[in-house]
Amino acid sequence: MKHYISLQKIEIDHLTEDEQIEYYGKDILESENFQASDENVQHGTVSVREHSLDVARASIRISKFFRLRARRRELIRGALLHDYFLYDWHVPAGEGEERKLHGFYHPGVALRNAKKEFFLTKREQDIIKKHMWPLTLIPPRYKESWVVTAADKYCSLRETLHLRKGRFEDKIKEIRKHGEGKKS
Ligand SMILES: [Fe+2]
Ligand SMILES: [Fe+2]
Repeated sequence: MKHYISLQKIEIDHLTEDEQIEYYGKDILESENFQASDENVQHGTVSVREHSLDVARASIRISKFFRLRARRRELIRGALLHDYFLYDWHVPAGEGEERKLHGFYHPGVALRNAKKEFFLTKREQDIIKKHMWPLTLIPPRYKESWVVTAADKYCSLRETLHLRKGRFEDKIKEIRKHGEGKKS
């Protein structure tokens, strides 16, 4: 991982999306919990970690395209942590209501987990809490939250339609191959 000295805004604009994510979210990227979310499936073959990085990239792109002058640091950190629920939502967990209604409850769980580990600004909290809008009835309050909400829906749709291949693809191929071997 590169080490950056403190950069001016104009210099940050010249960094690639991944470099910007690294610049503002290094501590999140290095966190054990964030790295472990690579083992949890989000949609299709994409892990929660990959999905969160994709949402951060798409958020940067959207705000740049519409010249939104979003607060880049909060936008990126909120996007990285928006799905910080830290469990595999495809695995049923007993009677827990939270897991059964994952769509409704996971923003609250993500916010709780993220708060335990990182200092969160009001904007970052709003991004995490409202990213499932309109499921969360109260709409996002800041433009950064609207951007991440839109980026999340765009990335989720791509993943669900299998337009984006992720880290579980090889595993699935292996299982299929194994199954075919058994048949013959
Ligand atoms: Fe989510
Ligand atoms: Fe998401």
